[in-house]
Amino acid sequence: MHTSRRTQLFTESVIREMTRVAQQHDAINLAQGFPDFPAPDLLKEAAARAINADLNQYAITWGAKRLREAVATKYYDWYGMDVNPETEVTVTCGATEAMVAVMLAVVDPGEEVIVFEPFYENYDRDTLLCGAKPVYVPMWGREELDLDRLADAFSDRTRAIVINTPNNPTGRLIPGRDLSGLCRRHPRTRFVVDESYLPFVRDAERESIARQGLANVIVLLSISKIFRIPGLRIGFLVAAPETVAACSQSVWPWSVNSLAHSAVQYIAEHPEPVREFVLATRGRLENEREIFRGLLERHPGFTVFPACASFMLVRLPEVISSGQAWAQLAEDRILIRDCSNFHGLSDRFIRICPKSPELSGR
Ligand SMILES: Cc1ncc(COP(=O)(O)O)c(C=O)c1O
Repeated sequence: MHTSRRTQLFTESVIREMTRVAQQHDAINLAQGFPDFPAPDLLKEAAARAINADLNQYAITWGAKRLREAVATKYYDWYGMDVNPETEVTVTCGATEAMVAVMLAVVDPGEEVIVFEPFYENYDRDTLLCGAKPVYVPMWGREELDLDRLADAFSDRTRAIVINTPNNPTGRLIPGRDLSGLCRRHPRTRFVVDESYLPFVRDAERESIARQGLANVIVLLSISKIFRIPGLRIGFLVAAPETVAACSQSVWPWSVNSLAHSAVQYIAEHPEPVREFVLATRGRLENEREIFRGLLERHPGFTVFPACASFMLVRLPEVISSGQAWAQLAEDRILIRDCSNFHGLSDRFIRICPKSPELSGR
């Protein structure tokens, strides 16, 4: 039977396969980037209350009013930015839906989207889904961004640039103030900035592009990782009103359920305990990253790249490939991310998401 040409361009999701293997072997999952401690009690209690209150009708597709208001308040608290909750915020089914909604809203078939490599696999997929062409520009670990190479990547069909900071998988952070020069230089191009891992970064509020208040920037936010709730499925996009209006039309009707709206709204309205949770998480992860860095760097030939989120990129010595490392560790029921299929990386790279010393001591 016929299947569309579009779907034949997609590759199987690596994370889906990793999760399957982890479950099959009861492995410690150092492959996926969320912390190994429980979600905040406040959130769980709010979700339970929402269930008991029979909150089971269709939600507003682009987000419950109070939730959007809470996001706007956060924006003000974090960045000193006034955001209109009616016109400048859309709630989405994670940053995943935010990205696809943005692409559908701003990119037409035949246009081009610049993607810095290596990149999170969905960016490619979302671009292709719109019938657009991804144009790759390497942006490596610690190196300066090659502005000449970037300039060459622009054409009269360029519609958007996707930037992920901190980047998955390199861990590289591009502070908003550095990025803003680039955004100002290309005012007619939309900069789609995925800040899913920014909450893990010390002083995250200072590093966000949001502070720059630029009209051509669309900020994607996720709460999946920092609160360890990737299954709850809530993310946000914040952008200028005409962009948000188009994105709100592109999200799937009722893709976020009303229970999730209600639970997240509750925690957004209680910033103090949430702040404590986030600060504790950052501190704990900093500690875990240092432990893992120490363990890995004891072995000659291992290079651990600077990391500021919930994962670290590691270059292996010549004698072992990422596939071999993956297979050997899987036998010991430890799962890591073989990075050989990331665009722009090779079979010398693995990504490790540190977990608590008790677990990883196994
Ligand atoms: C860079 C990046 N953005 C977005 C996501 C997905 O976020 P969400 O769960 O909010 O859809 C991931 C998940 O791994 C990711 O690595």
